[in-house]
Amino acid sequence: MEKMNAAVVTSFGEPPHYQPFDAPRPATVDEILVDVLAVGLHPRTRTGAAGAHYTSTGTLPMIPGIDAVGLRPDGKRIYFLAADDVIGTMADKAVADVRRSIELPDDVDVARVAAAMNPAMSAWVALRRRVPLEPGQSVLVLGATGNAGTMAVQVARRLGAGRVIGAGRDRGRLTALASAGADEVVQLTDDADETASRLAAAAAEADIVLDYLWGKPARQAMMALLTERSDRSRALNWIQIGAVAGPTMELPSVALRSANLRIQGNGQGAVSPGAYLAELPSLVDEIDAGTIAVKANRRPLAEVETIWAQPDVPGERTVLVP
Ligand SMILES: NC(=O)c1ccc[n+]([C@@H]2O[C@H](COP(=O)([O-])OP(=O)(O)OC[C@H]3O[C@@H](n4cnc5c(N)ncnc54)[C@H](OP(=O)(O)O)[C@@H]3O)[C@@H](O)[C@H]2O)c1
Repeated sequence: MEKMNAAVVTSFGEPPHYQPFDAPRPATVDEILVDVLAVGLHPRTRTGAAGAHYTSTGTLPMIPGIDAVGLRPDGKRIYFLAADDVIGTMADKAVADVRRSIELPDDVDVARVAAAMNPAMSAWVALRRRVPLEPGQSVLVLGATGNAGTMAVQVARRLGAGRVIGAGRDRGRLTALASAGADEVVQLTDDADETASRLAAAAAEADIVLDYLWGKPARQAMMALLTERSDRSRALNWIQIGAVAGPTMELPSVALRSANLRIQGNGQGAVSPGAYLAELPSLVDEIDAGTIAVKANRRPLAEVETIWAQPDVPGERTVLVP
């Protein structure tokens, strides 16, 4: 059995250890073994490595990593989504399913692609496939200070939004959102009434909300927008994408009766794999061109154990390089 080095989780709750592991083998005609070039350390990757994602099987040992940039045997570089939750991409080698991969332009920066694809695709696919954005529409990004939220502001602007409002907690990152394309920002604070009135003033007429928070702040925002909306029969499309503020929400039934509120989610189960994949080449072009800005913090995979314990630098995405 061929050996490789990998980030290996042997106990949930502990960081992965860098150690030798059996190299995986392709099992179907659609699978190939690739050399991994760069892997993003996304929030979803951490949840999976903790055994806490809804797809987790509890199987150990496991290798984290939900996507990567890899080098095919024919010398072509690809971006691929990992199919297996147990043997992921944080390793020298990984199995890529050609039906879940796209070829990359020859000169593209692999670390930037590894850093940006996961956070950027959430808004890109949401506004292209889930609720196609109509030119000039108004978009509120709830949780705009994280990587995905900041990219969502840029994506909404790029796809033709007429007005983009970013809401989040961190004041410094909110200030930076203006240069990312936000027309207005709203700070989310512990003062619920003050936050609600600021959100209502800025975004009561929004057409689409991209929600990375869920939980209590999302419910408060939802009620604030609906209460102040001038025409409640005009559709408000609420797209649930992340849940950094809580996995559940207590939703008053009146919210669904008193307004044309449409709640749906966006993720790899909500859009077909084919539709998802079809969107990725244009997204790579945007990342490559810099219209979606990204700061990739390149770190050696061999140091994964210490890197795991370090908080992310705000506005940067850690990328592990084998
Ligand atoms: N469905 C999809 O396709 C998809 C794709 C990518 C990501 N996601 C999800 O989207 C979420 C964000 O991902 P990310 O890559 O942007 O992560 P990230 O870069 O780590 O950003 C997370 C941000 O969440 C904010 N935050 C945390 N707790 C909060 C709270 N209680 N209230 C308000 N803000 C809070 C923090 O902002 P402050 O600094 O302002 O506190 C932080 O910057 C995650 O849940 C991730 O799993 C979903």
